[in-house]
Amino acid sequence: MAQEGDAVYYPQEMLDLNWNTTSKEKIQEVYKVWAGHYDRWVLEGSGPGTPGCYSHLSCGEAFFNAAKDHYGESKKDLKIMDFGCGSGLSGQVLKDKYGYDNLTGLDVSEDMLNIARQRNIYKTLISAFVGTDRIKEIQDGEYDAVISSGVFQTGQVRANALDEITRWIKPGGIMCFTCPVFDKEESGYKEKCESLEKEGKWTLVSNKEAEYYGDKAPKGRGYKTCRMLVYKKL
Ligand SMILES: C[S@@+](CC[C@H](N)C(=O)[O-])C[C@H]1O[C@@H](n2cnc3c(N)ncnc32)[C@H](O)[C@@H]1O
Repeated sequence: MAQEGDAVYYPQEMLDLNWNTTSKEKIQEVYKVWAGHYDRWVLEGSGPGTPGCYSHLSCGEAFFNAAKDHYGESKKDLKIMDFGCGSGLSGQVLKDKYGYDNLTGLDVSEDMLNIARQRNIYKTLISAFVGTDRIKEIQDGEYDAVISSGVFQTGQVRANALDEITRWIKPGGIMCFTCPVFDKEESGYKEKCESLEKEGKWTLVSNKEAEYYGDKAPKGRGYKTCRMLVYKKL
């Protein structure tokens, strides 16, 4: 629960999320509680200048480097889906730091989307829960790229949602996402990513270590670093 006196706290509800009990409603509940101070927690952690999470920064940088190699540095009009855009911190990095401005955001939390909307950086915002169902607003191969920061983690998107997410990417397009629990068997992420490779859906471009919570890792979920994964859709 909120710690009285803490400038910005990490919600217990978030630590309680797990893959056995997670649901659309549980995720929405967590972000209803967190939305009001999510940006402060990410940006300030336990005080100005000490971020609580680096995922959006790491993801933006990794995407920029991958897209530069893939499409060339000057290609800034890529149609990018920010999956699990939340309040828009990941999109803001893509736009302000790297100059990408053809952004769509998607999230299941209306509370987070309301904040993202106020940033005015996304051309389109989609409210949806991503699981195994087809998201009707998204055409096959509609996006040049998908990024996702802070979403492939305990108790949030399930591994089998990758079938739907890969549908959104055009052949030759890329997906770049952070994953602090990639190697944990119970997450199913690694197994699913490898099976998509075996099925010829995508190929691994890079799997590197990147900063995630850094030294501000919350108790009980101490992911200082994450895997930063880049795949190319085939
Ligand atoms: C930790 S926040 C990350 C927000 C943003 N990308 C960032 O880097 O700050 C995770 C977001 O993913 C969304 N999310 C989690 N699972 C989801 C799912 N299955 N479908 C849609 N959105 C989901 C949550 O609602 C939340 O806003």
